[in-house]
Amino acid sequence: MLKRFLLVLLLSTPLVGVASSGGGHLEKANVDVSNTASLQRGARNFMNYCSGCHSAQYVRFNRLGADLGLSEAQLQDNLMFAAERPFDTIQVAMPAVDAKRWFGQPPPDLSLIARSRGADWLFGFLTSFYQDDTRATGMNNLLLPGASMPHVLWELQGIQRAVYRIENDAAGNEHEVFDRFEHTTAGSMSTEEYKEFVRDIVTFLEYISEPVKLERIQLGIWVMFFLLVFFLFAYALKKEYWKDVH
Ligand code: HEC
Repeated sequence: MLKRFLLVLLLSTPLVGVASSGGGHLEKANVDVSNTASLQRGARNFMNYCSGCHSAQYVRFNRLGADLGLSEAQLQDNLMFAAERPFDTIQVAMPAVDAKRWFGQPPPDLSLIARSRGADWLFGFLTSFYQDDTRATGMNNLLLPGASMPHVLWELQGIQRAVYRIENDAAGNEHEVFDRFEHTTAGSMSTEEYKEFVRDIVTFLEYISEPVKLERIQLGIWVMFFLLVFFLFAYALKKEYWKDVH
């Protein structure tokens, strides 16, 4: 009985995970934190398009340089725009009080956002801003309804509107369900280019949320390798010992 209960519990946990992340049909972000080129592009995009409002207070520039393979000069030229020093963290120029007045709430620090939201959610969030004239920003977001963040990447993505279809629920009541997006204004990038652009940012956010992940994966491979070799020796030894017993 207990076994069956545990089994049910085990099988249902992943489902609970999906349910709580809201909307089970998120497109996969497919980020790869070991892709240094993608990380470098993501860091640059983040500094250009996000750091004006969002800080990343656990990220130091010199650590970033070391992990992303950038020299101090490259760091200075490409990522550090304000008068920062290499051991500074990514701060935001906008005072929190102003931010609260302008947006209703200060833009959150993004150091750990990939851990709380997950890469797929972030990818979905940055691709699902749509036109909504009832909002002050003229935009809304499918994954964060009523978001006070403007669509800062609209010039790249263009502007899209949400198309809904009518569905009946079990009780026979009609309601609108999101169906798809349709472009109303083209951006400077194609849909695929824009997805790549967003994927790079999400890769960067994933990396900063756990900078040691790269090392951990490498260490993990070594540990597996060691265990394999150890197993071969242990097995040979066991055979040797038991030869006389049989
Ligand atoms: C003009 C200021 C501004 C810029 C630039 C900006 N954001 Fe935001 N962002 C906000 C505000 C304000 C919120 C709070 C939205 C809310 O909760 O309604 C927010 C919220 C978010 C959230 C949701 C956090 C959560 O879990 O609720 C994410 C993720 C995010 N921003 C990512 C980004 C990324 C990535 C960029 C760069 C491409 C960016 N933002 C650029 C203002 C900005």
